[in-house]
Amino acid sequence: MFQYKCLNPISECGISLFDENYTTTDNLQDADAVLVRSAAMHDMKDVPNLLAVARAGAGVNNIPVEDYAEKGIVVFNTPGANANGVKEMVIAGMLLASRDLIGGHAWVEENKDNADITKAMEKAKKAFAGTEIKDKKIGVIGLGAIGVLVANVAKNLGMDVYGYDPYLSLKNAWNLSRSVHHVSSADEIFENCDFISVHVPLMDATRNIVGREGIAKMKEGAVILNFARNGLVDEDALVEALESGKLRHYVTDFPTPKVAGAKGVIAFPHLGASTEESEDNCAVMAVEQLMDYLENGNIKNSVNFPNTDMGVCQTEGRIAILHRNIPNMLTQFTSIFSKDNINITEMSNKTKGKYSYAIFDVESVVDEEAINEIAAIDGVLKVRLIK
Ligand code: MLT
Repeated sequence: MFQYKCLNPISECGISLFDENYTTTDNLQDADAVLVRSAAMHDMKDVPNLLAVARAGAGVNNIPVEDYAEKGIVVFNTPGANANGVKEMVIAGMLLASRDLIGGHAWVEENKDNADITKAMEKAKKAFAGTEIKDKKIGVIGLGAIGVLVANVAKNLGMDVYGYDPYLSLKNAWNLSRSVHHVSSADEIFENCDFISVHVPLMDATRNIVGREGIAKMKEGAVILNFARNGLVDEDALVEALESGKLRHYVTDFPTPKVAGAKGVIAFPHLGASTEESEDNCAVMAVEQLMDYLENGNIKNSVNFPNTDMGVCQTEGRIAILHRNIPNMLTQFTSIFSKDNINITEMSNKTKGKYSYAIFDVESVVDEEAINEIAAIDGVLKVRLIK
């Protein structure tokens, strides 16, 4: 029986997948698994039973990923599950930055009791005129699941699209429209584009990826769109550029006290993935990944441990070992099995950066003593006997 805790409301589509082997708990200390959306977990250190965290969404900056890796806690995310929702919001943001639809709507609200509204609006409307996005240049920084969708739809809307991603995956490269210009530096985007949309995760390497120097290189009247994370755009430089009129708009899902009321800012309260479809997709993916890990030890879409798929165990037992990526680990594991005359029928050992994950399917019963011996090996983070 596994216990899970939801730190945020998670769509029933996902929760209903948990069967009679799962119960919910309010107590984090009892939880084997956590489902989270945006709740900050950095202070949640006392998690003695926790095996896995699933983030229903892409960003994991609210989770202490490295600390949890050291505790042998696997952190999952759901890449792509809400990509369409965010993509649609980016396009809406671009349209709102091009045409003063917000101002026009506010005018109608203010004049709703005017008996002459039909006549008055024909005079007033020139204040809300704008430009079209067709034939404008958009630069997409980060061509992950969301960036690729934004690039492709912008192309279909008649825009000239530039994409920058030094780590573009093969899968995303296949999905990207061939008409997108793939550039080799963010500067090329800053210098050429009318719209600049950021789609990278927030990490040390990406903090202020749109910085003061980049903003200085931008075209007069450029628009920055940030539906990825707070921290990716240098806010001091941004506000100065908006005040001076160099930038036309900053459209963001991540307002802060500094930018929320600044000139030219169009901001939303983190609504990108807040659609029924995205919430359902993320919840289903998060719960399926958690269940496969808890029941079979398989890992898919973890941000701190490698993907591993050994299917369902067909033998007497499966031993799953999260460990550091250091020499001599496998020899130590197998020597414990051979000492106890345990035959290994299948095995896998995968690595992601500093961490590795080994699975052994064995033909005979592995006793607690052997499990404890493995757990005591220097560099082992967590051992589980799955079956
Ligand atoms: C994400 O990182 O995918 C989004 O922030 C998801 C969300 O809105 O929870």
